[in-house]
Amino acid sequence: MDLELTGGTALVTAASRGIGRAVTERLAEEGMTVVAGARTAGREPEKLGAGVIRPQVSDLADAEQTAALVDTVVAEHGRLDVLVLNTPGPRIVPALDTTWADWAAAHDLLLRPVVQLAVAGGRQMRAQGSGTIVLLSSTWVRQPAAGGVLSASYRSAAAALVKTLAAELAPHGVRVVHVMPGATGTDRMQAIVESKAARNGTTTDDEVAAVVRDIPLGRWAEAREIADVVAFAASPRAGFMTGSAVVVDGGAVRATY
Ligand SMILES: NC(=O)c1ccc[n+]([C@@H]2O[C@H](COP(=O)([O-])OP(=O)(O)OC[C@H]3O[C@@H](n4cnc5c(N)ncnc54)[C@H](OP(=O)(O)O)[C@@H]3O)[C@@H](O)[C@H]2O)c1
Repeated sequence: MDLELTGGTALVTAASRGIGRAVTERLAEEGMTVVAGARTAGREPEKLGAGVIRPQVSDLADAEQTAALVDTVVAEHGRLDVLVLNTPGPRIVPALDTTWADWAAAHDLLLRPVVQLAVAGGRQMRAQGSGTIVLLSSTWVRQPAAGGVLSASYRSAAAALVKTLAAELAPHGVRVVHVMPGATGTDRMQAIVESKAARNGTTTDDEVAAVVRDIPLGRWAEAREIADVVAFAASPRAGFMTGSAVVVDGGAVRATY
């Protein structure tokens, strides 16, 4: 299926590794120019398929850098067709062990940059009369889990932002979609199972088995499988989809809505 993304411009944040990187590559393969936000400079533009990946220094914890990001993309490329709001994951910690500094840090990574970028991107797309914003979050919004209070709390606020923007931007030809990945094989997941193994006196294989035990498909996702769903949601082929929250988790969330 031709996703009809060729020739457009995308911005993906937290895009150097993991799910963000997979989304960046997938959109470039579709023929997009993809500005890939990353904390460190040094990479050269990279051709991929019909598209190109253009690294852009962007530390989401830096409010000024984040505020300038959409303007930078539009100044260089003239428009913004797809905005993928990916963030780094917050600390995993029991709610009663959190400090106020944990909450402030999680706010400054998970919510503040998402609001800044969604508003700036939304204004640009409204002026264009087209575009799609995709929020990447976590199934912990739908089904919070022990240790995930920082993630679930701020991402739930971002989920409300998606619903609101979807209603406000629909008359202007702009769609807003929310994609919630479940367990996915990335550096972050590797670090999580390693730290659990060290804490529990088990092996990483034991901890991987514990993660996938509750996933009906019996494995975790490849980052590429999340990226495929994001690319479809971002594309004109998903033209009637807005305000939707799409779970991609191998069946792990049991809720029926
Ligand atoms: N993996 C999973 O199972 C899973 C499941 C559900 C939800 N999620 C969520 O999906 C998101 C991505 O997860 P992932 O597994 O792909 O993580 P990852 O492999 O650890 O990648 C994280 C990305 O965030 C970037 N990053 C870190 N701090 C940043 C900052 N201050 N500013 C800009 N970029 C920054 C990293 O780039 P650097 O090279 O600069 O470090 C990297 O590109 C996270 O929010 C995570 O909680 C993950």
